[in-house]
Amino acid sequence: MKTEYEALLAEITEYARNHEKKERFAHSVRTAETCAALCRRFGEDADKGYLAGIAHDMCKECDDMELVSLAVKDGLPVSPIERTHLSLLHGRAAATLLKEQFNLNDAAVIEAVQHHTFGMAGMCNLAKILFIADKIEPGREHVTEKYLKKTEKMALNELAMFVVSENISYLQERGKKVAPATQEFLESLKVENR
Ligand SMILES: [Fe+2]
Ligand SMILES: [Fe+2]
Repeated sequence: MKTEYEALLAEITEYARNHEKKERFAHSVRTAETCAALCRRFGEDADKGYLAGIAHDMCKECDDMELVSLAVKDGLPVSPIERTHLSLLHGRAAATLLKEQFNLNDAAVIEAVQHHTFGMAGMCNLAKILFIADKIEPGREHVTEKYLKKTEKMALNELAMFVVSENISYLQERGKKVAPATQEFLESLKVENR
């Protein structure tokens, strides 16, 4: 018989498979696997990591109306960047779905999925790990063997700082706005690392 976790994971995986394009679902599976492996490396719950990874982009293909109505249920304001790019609400929307449709009440998984797009100051370890996994899953072009070698010995906050800094440079090089939440995430990691 399936455990409660296995049943929930199967349900969420099916939802993600049915609501994501093929390539995106493949990214979700790689993110889930990377997230679980990082959880094992940093002493967090790998099952929770896998679940957060498989769920994180499940609302990325929702229409705008649905995105907004799901996202704002977390009670947070819609930021200027989110307002101009509604798709950036997909993490918050997915967190609502996890709570309302899948009856998940694990605070760490919810926080990880909710804030995986921008990050946030003071996030829990699982949320830091999902943020990292989303950016360093092996399907990402910059993730070479050399890159993985460089990151394999880093402590969690060090790795998070490395990945967030790269993310900020990537956005800046392309003339894109960096969300204040992402800057605050980086600053909070620096403080935690002192
Ligand atoms: Fe995402
Ligand atoms: Fe993603």
